[in-house]
Amino acid sequence: MKGLVLAGGSGTRLRPLTHTGAKQLVPVANRPVLFYVMDNLVDAGIEEIGVIIAPETGGEIRDALGDGSAFGARFTFIEQDRPSGLAHAVATARDYLGDSDFVMYLGDNLIGTKIKDSVDTFRNDPSLSAWVMLKEVPNPSQFGVAKIDDDGKVVGLVEKPADPPSNLALVGIYMFRPSVFEAISQIEPSARGELEITDAIQKVIDLGGTCRFAHVTSWWLDTGKKDDMLLANDTVLDDWLEGCIEGDVDEESQIVGRVRIEAGASVTRSTVRGPAIIGAGAQIVDSRIGPFTTIGKEVVVDHSRIDHSVVMEASSISGIPRLEDSLIGKRVKVGPSAARHGGLSLMVGDDCIIESPQ
Ligand code: TTP
Repeated sequence: MKGLVLAGGSGTRLRPLTHTGAKQLVPVANRPVLFYVMDNLVDAGIEEIGVIIAPETGGEIRDALGDGSAFGARFTFIEQDRPSGLAHAVATARDYLGDSDFVMYLGDNLIGTKIKDSVDTFRNDPSLSAWVMLKEVPNPSQFGVAKIDDDGKVVGLVEKPADPPSNLALVGIYMFRPSVFEAISQIEPSARGELEITDAIQKVIDLGGTCRFAHVTSWWLDTGKKDDMLLANDTVLDDWLEGCIEGDVDEESQIVGRVRIEAGASVTRSTVRGPAIIGAGAQIVDSRIGPFTTIGKEVVVDHSRIDHSVVMEASSISGIPRLEDSLIGKRVKVGPSAARHGGLSLMVGDDCIIESPQ
């Protein structure tokens, strides 16, 4: 079986961070989301992985992933000329996938469970034409939604329905046989102009194929927006972080709970409360960090307090009494105002959000 990871698309919902980079590379606990996707596929025994990339962000995805050897896999990059939908991405990979069965995995989805059991079940049951993963959600109208019968088969699928047939949303992990290409060739673009994967699976079923599903009971984060990103960071720190101190911590500092201080980082006269990560080469001086906070590599924090936040690489935070629930991009400087009248002084790019204290 091969893998197909979708790392193209336009990523409008995570602006401004995706103005300058691919959303699949936005870090969660200091690792790009896409790396967790690759780990999960390799854990399931899938080592031949095609990666769909967009012309705009494909270069940085290639640079971050390399040839796959770092993950124990072989990556092949496939450019999709425009983001015309998930089923369009699958059709774009037709030559690469050939007559192989495959797992399709959205490169911005993070789940708390392994996919190995689902992959094994699908691989060993030739009566199945497709496999999806479903999770109960409180707001199904915002997702692709499945209708299932008493026998555990998926009988219908609909994208973002006004009147959802169930509360079971499609998680961004699907398995197919090569028969899906015939189904895709028979569907038309939806009202939003995309070839929808829900329509493709529906067509597989209409053509007589059987689709079954796994029920995802762990957390699932479709890291689309700021609050999702912060929640993803919280969850990964809470569930997966192992404390270890490789950097320097002076005697006047306190480390409480599960904290990872990476090599070359220094913590001086500060408190770091876990779960938290201080990235490689970061400097924390006279500050309080955490809990639920990820500090990227080469970040400098002084005389500040930061909790429930992500600060990405090479940014600096100086003299801020309290920064909370914040997602700060790369190379950002946050510090005391130089304005003459004590006002806010800003230089902020497009689509940013600034919430000042009341
Ligand atoms: P989506 O979140 O459905 O779409 P998007 O990336 O265009 O995002 P937004 O709604 O924020 O503008 O995409 C899910 C994943 O699939 C994501 O990793 C991008 C990828 N993708 C492709 O590779 N090709 C495509 O044509 C589309 C629509 C998405």
